Amino acid sequence: MNIAEVRAALPQRHIEYYESIDSTMHAAAKLETRAVVFAGEQTSGQGRHGHVWHSEARNGLYCSLVLQPAPVLTLALGLAAAEAIAGTYGIACDLRWPNDLMLDGLKTGGILVQLVDGKAVAGIGINVNHESLPEELGATSLRIHLGRELPREALAIALVRAVDSFAAEDKETILRLFAHASSYAAGRRVTVALPEGSIEGMTAGLDADGFLKVRKDDGSTVLILAGGVRAAGS
Ligand code: BTN
Repeated sequence: MNIAEVRAALPQRHIEYYESIDSTMHAAAKLETRAVVFAGEQTSGQGRHGHVWHSEARNGLYCSLVLQPAPVLTLALGLAAAEAIAGTYGIACDLRWPNDLMLDGLKTGGILVQLVDGKAVAGIGINVNHESLPEELGATSLRIHLGRELPREALAIALVRAVDSFAAEDKETILRLFAHASSYAAGRRVTVALPEGSIEGMTAGLDADGFLKVRKDDGSTVLILAGGVRAAGS
């Protein structure tokens, strides 16, 4: 990635770039609020729930931003990433609660938020130019979707701007925008992996804190506090 182009477009930001790093989350955790870390590849990329994030060289956008903690920040970050992708390449991603970026029913980006010393470290990984991905990941890339290679610099710039903009919105606005942007927010049949076993039901909107309501076939409603949501039958 041409990091000079990204820095020139965002002159007020402290931006660190590593050609190769274990995880941008580690570097960002040591920095001040508003700092941003990008990497060309990650040798130990972290996903949610202890998963590894596939972080091959050159093809992905691997980024961690240091932010002020805020209510529903995880939802705001998904909206920001989706807007950056739409504005840069004209690709409309779906958002699978809480913030997986989905294209053609497959995951093309993921977001991990960690609280460190009173700061929120927001890690965003987007599969941009991957020509193929390991099948077991159930993942795709923007390049596979669009059929051509894409420049990552414009997306990196748009992403930082969009995160600033959505992170400044109030909770009610984020909940409204998410309900509009995500086909998973309501009326979608899903399976949810919970520690005590999987449940299946229809999504029934978000509560005031951004948690997902799932109505089971027996009429009871379960509030989902963490991820593990997928389309039923997928
Ligand atoms: C998920 O599991 O959906 C979250 C994936 C988050 C991946 C990004 S890539 C940049 C940052 N550094 C990491 O090690 N993880 C996040």
